[in-house]
Parts: sequence; structure tokens; C-alpha cells
Amino acid sequence: MKRPWALVTGASDGIGVEFCRELAARGHDLVLVARREELLHEVAGRMAREHGIATRVVPCDLARPRAAEDLHRRVVGEGIEVDFLVNNAGLLFNGFFDEIELGKQEDLLAVNVVALTALTHLFLRDMLARGRGRILNVASTAAWLGIPQQNVYAASKAYVVSFTLALEDEVRSKARGVSVTALCPSYTRTKMLDNPAQGRKLSVPDALVLDPAQVAREGIEGALRGRPLVMPGVSNRFAMSLLQALPRTWVTRLAGTLYRRGQA
Ligand SMILES: NC(=O)c1ccc[n+]([C@@H]2O[C@H](COP(=O)([O-])OP(=O)(O)OC[C@H]3O[C@@H](n4cnc5c(N)ncnc54)[C@H](OP(=O)(O)O)[C@@H]3O)[C@@H](O)[C@H]2O)c1
Repeated sequence: MKRPWALVTGASDGIGVEFCRELAARGHDLVLVARREELLHEVAGRMAREHGIATRVVPCDLARPRAAEDLHRRVVGEGIEVDFLVNNAGLLFNGFFDEIELGKQEDLLAVNVVALTALTHLFLRDMLARGRGRILNVASTAAWLGIPQQNVYAASKAYVVSFTLALEDEVRSKARGVSVTALCPSYTRTKMLDNPAQGRKLSVPDALVLDPAQVAREGIEGALRGRPLVMPGVSNRFAMSLLQALPRTWVTRLAGTLYRRGQA
């Protein structure tokens, strides 16, 4: 029987590798996308050996202009019908807004916002034409707060949630077999938490950090059930509902104080 194809961006590292594992275990062939080709081949090889699936590696810098269009053209040109799109690639920079190079913030917006929107547009059209498909857009609990010293990142994730929830309603009104889901993890144990290339390191208590495999599993399950929004972890959901009951300006001040204290 023909297996469905899934495309995962940011498949070379972190939660992206766990999305690949989860989708491969559920019988999807995989298109793996990120910049580091060698790592992509390593992950693809592991998934093919462990799960007997087919893989394609497509190295791609999603910060480049029109990267999404090029990627879509290459994938469709190979005759691959993507039935599950995971927009997972993401960038974060910690630090004061005025001290981070503007070019880095523009790359962040290009990957977290522009490429995610363009890939959703291109693959959603194909899915609607076929009458089947799932799109999972990775946001963050940062979407619900203004986070000082991660302000562009948090705003980019607020975009992802707002865009995805509104689109979910549009898609639901048009097609039964197609769905769009926003995934909002909180701190997750990946290099995003302590990558020196991303600015000042944050020290986050271990108890607050999610396992990337759990985040990927809850995200894929939520998308397969057609849920609009998935927030992994019970304590995470509880903390977020408490925070949302407080005035936004207070929460932002609190986040700023905690972030400045938490920087190693
Ligand atoms: N870790 C957390 O605490 C956390 C919490 C909430 C949400 N998230 C979100 O979860 C997603 C995955 O994050 P992660 O924690 O797994 O981070 P990660 O370990 O840093 O992985 C990020 C992935 O994105 C890819 N990527 C970055 N820039 C790219 C570009 N210009 N073009 C193509 N691919 C690019 C990276 O691959 P290459 O470097 O090979 O290109 C890598 O595979 C992100 O959207 C992030 O915002 C993470």
C-alpha cells in the first residue's frame, strides 16, 4: 500500500527529529528540510532503518527570499504529494532588542513567519484540491505573553497562533479531510535553550522543561484529531490559564524580571 508523505521543516535537530520519529512510526514517508544536510541524511537514514520508510532530504535555508516556493516546486516536481506538513523550523535570539543585529531579527521573521505562511499557503492548496491533509504549525506558549529580551520571537509566535486559529476556521468551513493545528510547547529540552549562537543563555529549572518526544507526540496526535490548538503538558496548560487571568502588563513585567534573573 502507498504510504502518505509528511514534510518536516527543521528536521535536523531538536523537536523536528522527534516529529520525524513520530510520523515514521505512524507509517509516513518523510521529506526532511533544514540547512545542515549532513544531519538531515543522518536522521533520514535512522528513520529508514528503524521504520522501513522512504525519505527525501531537501537542504534549504528558509530565511532566503522565495525559499518556500523553491521547496514546494522541488517536492511537487518529484511527484511527492505531501499529506502532512509540519512547519517546525524556528529561530530565537535572546537579548535586548537594540543589541541584536537587525539582520538576525529579519532572518527570524523570515523563518518563523514568512516561510511558515508561504509553505502553509502552497501545500494547503494542494491538500484542498485532493480533499485530505494535515498542517501542524509550531508556535510556543511565548505567543500568549510579551517576553522582554525575546520580544521579536514571542511576537512571531503570536502571529503563528493568530494566523493558524483563524485559518483553521476557514478550512473547517470548506473541507472535511483537511485540518490546521497550532502547537504551543513551553520550554523544551533542545539546543534552543542554550545555543550560544542565539544570544544569552537562559537557565530554566529542569522541572519546567518538556521532553521533545512528548511535544512531538502530542502535536501529531492533536493534528490527526483535527484539533485547532495543542498545548503539551498538563502543568503547562494550568500555568497558562492562570497567566491569562492576569493583566498583560503585569505578566510582561514579571516575565522581564524573571528573564533578567534567569540569564546565566
Ligand atoms: N525548545 C523550546 O523550548 C521551544 C519552546 C516552544 C516552541 N519551540 C519551537 O519549536 C520549534 C523547534 O525548535 P527546537 O527547540 O527543536 O529548536 P532547535 O533544536 O534549535 O532546532 C531548530 C530547527 O530549525 C531549523 N532551522 C533554523 N533556521 C533555519 C533556516 N533558516 N532554514 C531552515 N531550517 C532552519 C534548524 O536546522 P538547521 O540549523 O540545520 O537549518 C533546526 O532543525 C521552533 O519553531 C521553536 O520556536 C521550541
